[in-house]
Formats: sequence, C-alpha cells, structure tokens
Amino acid sequence: MVMMKSSILSLLTTLLLCSSSTNAIDLDIDSLESIQHATGLLATGLMDYYWGYDYGGTVGMFTNPYYWWEAGGAWGSMLDHWYYLQNDTYADVIFTAMQAQVGDDWDYIPLNQSTTEGNDDQAFWGIAAIQAAERNFTNPSSDEPQWLYLAQAVFNTMAWRWDTEHCGGGLRWQIFQYNSGYDYKNTVSNAGLFHIGARLARFTGNDSYVDWAEEIYDWLLGVNFITEGEWYFAYDGANIDDNCSSVTKLQWTYNAGMMVSGCAYLYNYTEDEIWLTRTEGYVKGISVFFNDSVLYEAACQASESCNNDQRSFKAYMSRFLGLTSVLAPTTYDTIRPWIEKSAKAAAQSCVGGYDGHTCGMNWFYNGWDGYYGLGEEMSALEIIQNLLAKDRPAPYTATNGGSSSGDGAAGSPTVIAYDQLLTLDGGDKAGAAIITIVIGVSIVAFGSWLVI
Ligand SMILES: *[C@@H]1O[C@H](CO)[C@@H](O)[C@H](O)[C@H]1NC(C)=O
Ligand SMILES: *[C@@H]1O[C@H](CO)[C@@H](O)[C@H](O)[C@H]1NC(C)=O
Ligand SMILES: *[C@@H]1O[C@H](CO)[C@@H](O)[C@H](O)[C@H]1NC(C)=O
Ligand SMILES: *[C@@H]1O[C@H](CO)[C@@H](O)[C@H](O)[C@H]1NC(C)=O
Ligand SMILES: *[C@@H]1O[C@H](CO)[C@@H](O)[C@H](O)[C@H]1NC(C)=O
Ligand SMILES: *[C@@H]1O[C@H](CO)[C@@H](O)[C@H](O)[C@H]1NC(C)=O
Ligand SMILES: *[C@@H]1O[C@H](CO)[C@@H](O)[C@H](O)[C@H]1NC(C)=O
Repeated sequence: MVMMKSSILSLLTTLLLCSSSTNAIDLDIDSLESIQHATGLLATGLMDYYWGYDYGGTVGMFTNPYYWWEAGGAWGSMLDHWYYLQNDTYADVIFTAMQAQVGDDWDYIPLNQSTTEGNDDQAFWGIAAIQAAERNFTNPSSDEPQWLYLAQAVFNTMAWRWDTEHCGGGLRWQIFQYNSGYDYKNTVSNAGLFHIGARLARFTGNDSYVDWAEEIYDWLLGVNFITEGEWYFAYDGANIDDNCSSVTKLQWTYNAGMMVSGCAYLYNYTEDEIWLTRTEGYVKGISVFFNDSVLYEAACQASESCNNDQRSFKAYMSRFLGLTSVLAPTTYDTIRPWIEKSAKAAAQSCVGGYDGHTCGMNWFYNGWDGYYGLGEEMSALEIIQNLLAKDRPAPYTATNGGSSSGDGAAGSPTVIAYDQLLTLDGGDKAGAAIITIVIGVSIVAFGSWLVI
C-alpha cells in the first residue's frame, strides 16, 4: 500500500516535473558543508520510510515491506549520521527506536519477531548496539541495561547457539527449528558473531572475545565459507545435510564487509600481524565489488534481481569500509578512493522521485535508474557520510571515551526457543515457515551468478 502510493506519486511527478534537478545533490567531496547538505537530504529521505509514530506504525520498525532486521541496519546508518555529522536532529528518535525493539530479555529478540527472527537478524541489532557504545551515544539510565550490555547479550545468546553437532560448529541461519533455513548454516550469521565479538574485544579489552572470534574464523575457513590465499572471499553458506560441503558460492558485499572490518578491529586491538594480513587480504578480495572504483552488489545488480534486503547491503559495506580504513591505517589508501568515487557516483544517482533527490540502486547508471527504497537511501547516505570516517575520533573503547556499561554474562541462557514455541499456534508456525521459504528460494534463485 505504502509503496504503491509513493510509486504513483513519484511516477506522476517524474512525468510532470522532469526539471526537478534544482533539488539534486551536488556533492563536493572536499567540502564539509556539501557533505552536510547531501547527507541531510538523504537522512530525511531515509526517514520518509519510518512511520513509527504514525497511526498503524510501530516504534523502531520501518514501513512495509522492510523487515525488522533492516531496521537494525538503518538505525546503524542513522547513528553514524548523528556521529559523523554531529547532528542531533534524530538522536531521540534513534534512541527510542533502539530501546523499543530490545525485547523482554534485553537481547533483541522481541516477542513480535520471535516467530521469524534469524541469527543474522539479531546480529544487525547487536551491531547497532555495539556501535552506540563505541560512538558514546546517549546511554539508557544507569539502572537499565546500557548499549554495551545489549551488545553482549546479543553476542552471548548467539554464542550459546553454537552448534557442534553439524559441520563441526557454526551457527545455523535460523534460531527456531520450525523456520525453514534452520538446516542452513550461513556466513552472515557467523560473520555477524565474529564481527560483534571483535568489536567487544576491542571495546572491553576482554580476551575471551578474541578467542571466540578466532574459533569462528577458523570454523568459517574450515568449511570453506571464507577463503584465504590469492583471494580472500566470503561465500553465502551451506546446508547441514551434507555436512556443509556444498557451499553456495554467492558473494554479498555485507559478508565481505563484516569479515574485513572484524579483522581490522582484531588487528587494532591485538596488533597481531595475522589480523592485518587478513584485513588486507579481504580488502583485495573486495575489489570484485567495484566497477571502476564504484561499489555495486555484484551478485544481483546487473541482473536487476536484488530483493529489498539485498538493496541495502551496500550500506553496510560502506560503513564497514570506513571503519576498516581507520582501524587498519595501511588500508586507507586503497579504500579512500573507492569511497570517494562511489560517493560521487551515488550522489549523481540521487535525482529521482517527487522530491528530486531520491537515490537509485545502480550508481554507475547515468542519473536515476528508477529504483527507490530504504536500501537505496541508506546506501547513498552511508557511502557519503563515510567520507568523514577519518575526521571524527575512531570508535571509542571503554578506556578512552566510551561510557557504556555492560556485563560479560549478559543475556539469558535459557533457550527461549522452546517456551516460545509452546505459545505459538499452528497458524503462526506455518506463516513463519512460508516467509522463510520465500527468502530461501530467492537466495537459491539468484545462485546462477558466481564470482570467478
Ligand atoms: C541536520 O540534519 C537534518 C536532517 O537530516 C538536516 O535537515 C539539517 O540540515 C542538518 N543540519 C546541519 C547543520 O547539517
Ligand atoms: C508488536 O506488534 C504489535 C501489533 O502490530 C504492535 O502494536 C506493537 O507495538 C509491537 N511491539 C513492538 C515492540 O514492536
Ligand atoms: C564435517 O565437517 C567438519 C568441518 O569441516 C569436519 O571437522 C568433520 O570431520 C566432518 N564430519 C564428517 C562426518 O565428514
Ligand atoms: C561497469 O560500469 C559501466 C559503466 O560505467 C557499465 O557499462 C558496465 O556494464 C558495468 N559493469 C558491470 C559488470 O556491471
Ligand atoms: C588503531 O586505530 C587507531 C585509530 O585510527 C590508529 O591511530 C591506530 O594506529 C590503530 N592501531 C594499529 C595497530 O594500527
Ligand atoms: C561519553 O559520554 C559520557 C556521558 O555522557 C561523558 O561524560 C563523556 O565525556 C563522553 N565521552 C566522550 C569522549 O565524549
Ligand atoms: C569476558 O568475556 C567472556 C565471554 O563472553 C565472559 O564469559 C566473561 O564473563 C567476561 N569477563 C569479564 C571480566 O567481563
């Protein structure tokens, strides 16, 4: 409904007012004022998809058809907008949204999501939580769990699901047995745990997180979900039926982004050369996602088959590249030109829609390619605001500016899956299964595209 209305509107206005280029984003990457102006428009465009305070809306969730996980991603984009641009406009909205979805057990498994939530979904909210701690974002009051605690609760509840029974370890895609995808171990769930662990290690100085990160990394490497050597790649995942031996070799930007920045955090904290070698290896591998230095979602963009989820992946890659360039400074000279060229390319795509600055999906398309949505706004916002990655302090830690408090034992080890399973009726279970079947099929359907 929502999309229908705005698509008719934007179609009409595109037809009627083709001259709306006065609103276009004219980006000068060397000017803070220009970056402020551009990201101001994009942040507003992103928030057009947030109806949390409107009738029928839910605080913390974006409009249909955007799933809960993507909201976690979008609040991360807005948090960095707040931080990089030092702009408080949306600070309260971000805070309230991230609190609203935390769930009764303070671990980002809110009851409304409990029939469909996967490990990767939870990870995206966990990433927003550790990011809030690292940016020293306003904390909940001291008698409530703070950002660090929430990130630790996500990490711990995910780590407790580590499954050694199949494929020698790893997280499954799904948390709940009745969801299809439960038999699939995917890279993003495991890379998400690795990534959060790396950030918790650096923030807290607790080496148990390094041990965990190493274990996850070694497992991913052992089952060939990631590769080392000439090319450091991250693939999609595999089914447990044949012990994870048939890897789906799709490459998504967000997986590579989680790996490279996770390695960069570990290098920055441990100063161990192995993590620098790996960081640099993934930076080289990531070059497959650039076309003349312009970032693209190689697995689906050319075939125009990216779904709503996938259309936001470039946002996370942009964010993770900015972080990597700061935390592993030797990568800066490679990453910076990518961010600069991609930011310019993204900006020139933002000439669509009725507002005249709606962004497209394909940044090397000349002008607006006709795509629009939350993912397009997030991706353009992230690549442009990451021009400022080095101009603001690097992610804080508990000892140099991060004030969030936590607890290494955060999260409840009771397996929530079972008691929630009991309270579900048959209809909910079937609905949840159908949703994940659709997602699963769409991933397989795009499996025809393989890098190298
Ligand atoms: C702050 O952000 C808002 C919303 O994105 C924007 O309209 C405003 O221009 C920004 N202010 C500055 C000083 O950049
Ligand atoms: C859960 O869903 C109900 C019904 O859609 C909604 O009213 C409520 O705000 C939601 N709660 C959260 C925390 O999202
Ligand atoms: C299953 O895969 C794991 C990880 O690669 C390996 O350690 C284990 O030996 C395999 N098990 C069988 C039965 O092949
Ligand atoms: C790379 O960009 C050019 C335009 O700059 C385009 O013609 C070409 O199709 C792109 N390649 C891929 C693989 O998308
Ligand atoms: C860690 O990151 C900081 C901030 O960018 C940087 O100054 C420092 O050199 C990095 N440490 C290492 C070992 O590269
Ligand atoms: C972090 O936030 C706390 C609490 O608001 C504040 O006292 C502290 O100065 C902040 N640290 C930095 C580096 O801004
Ligand atoms: C360090 O992290 C581990 C793993 O999460 C946790 O079990 C332990 O309690 C933490 N130690 C401290 C002192 O917080």
